[in-house]
Amino acid sequence: MEPDHTSALPHIAEIAKNATMIYTPKASEMQKSFYDVSLREKTIDDLEELSLGKMTLKFVHAKFLHWPETMMTYLVEDEILFSCDAFGAFGALNGNVFDDEIDLRMVEMESRRYLSAIITTYFPFVQRAIKKVVDLGIGIKIVAPSHGPVYRKDPMWIISRFDKWTSKELEKRVTIVYGSMYGHNQRVAFLLKKELQNLGVEVKTINISYTDLSVVVTETVRAGVIVLGTPTYDAHPFPFIWHFMTEMSGKRFQRRPIALFGNYGWQGGGLERVEALVQEMKCPVIQPIVRVKARPTEEDLEQIRQLAKAISKELK
Ligand SMILES: Cc1cc2nc3c(=O)[nH]c(=O)nc-3n(C[C@H](O)[C@H](O)[C@H](O)COP(=O)(O)O)c2cc1C
Ligand SMILES: [Fe+2]
Ligand SMILES: [Fe+2]
Repeated sequence: MEPDHTSALPHIAEIAKNATMIYTPKASEMQKSFYDVSLREKTIDDLEELSLGKMTLKFVHAKFLHWPETMMTYLVEDEILFSCDAFGAFGALNGNVFDDEIDLRMVEMESRRYLSAIITTYFPFVQRAIKKVVDLGIGIKIVAPSHGPVYRKDPMWIISRFDKWTSKELEKRVTIVYGSMYGHNQRVAFLLKKELQNLGVEVKTINISYTDLSVVVTETVRAGVIVLGTPTYDAHPFPFIWHFMTEMSGKRFQRRPIALFGNYGWQGGGLERVEALVQEMKCPVIQPIVRVKARPTEEDLEQIRQLAKAISKELK
């Protein structure tokens, strides 16, 4: 029932007055609050089949992908899986439709960004849906999600990626997410990056002021260690860092070690709230927490080195 899939429903209902809507019981109930279209309807059970004459549809309920009423539809004779939000992607396709017509590097990025920004909370449901489809033992010649390309050349390309991106196995790499108003905290982020690189750790820095939240989530959701760096802002964390942390919490980011650094001009504050929220998320905080007063000194650099070592150990 999600509007990105169904907004045409009232218009279709005007044209196709004899159509029957087929959906899960939950979708039936939701349809009334979203559209209140009065076509005939039929609610369908999980794995129920419907003969259309020459063609047969099989319905596979896929709860929380990414709404509670979602289902996939399988066209038995042609082996096409209309997978709804599972295996979907962001991104405009410039008039193309199929995987063999599109640069898959763009699709890889946009499907990962879609998955991370929209479905992170429901990663276990993706795993469950993939298992359910595999267990059905059906052939799949084409995967046709609700948005993103239709995969006819290699449907396993997207299925295997969704499987990997939603697995519990975090990647052995670090993402440093920081904010900075005058550049001091950025200096710490870069010093830490350099120290980590010296230790052979794969690391990326993200300046949160210049990066779309969906990209920040994409770059962090599978990172083995996330580092958060905040300047003090009215005795509070930098607002964008705080905003990202509420995303981490709301999207139920998998627990993992988190490292912290912060910068202040006089009294400080903010880093404590960041630490408290990390504790609340039940993620271990990697020591030391690096607190820098404006320009990082030699002693701060030593702390940064210690932190880099501790982070590298966590990834072993
Ligand atoms: C809007 C604003 C509010 C600030 N509030 C505080 C504060 O409450 N306490 C404090 O110690 N420093 C505060 N500062 C100073 C900065 O935290 C400090 O200069 C720090 O070095 C900034 O890091 P940056 O260079 O990475 O931006 C504030 C700065 C700005 C711009
Ligand atoms: Fe959706
Ligand atoms: Fe969607």
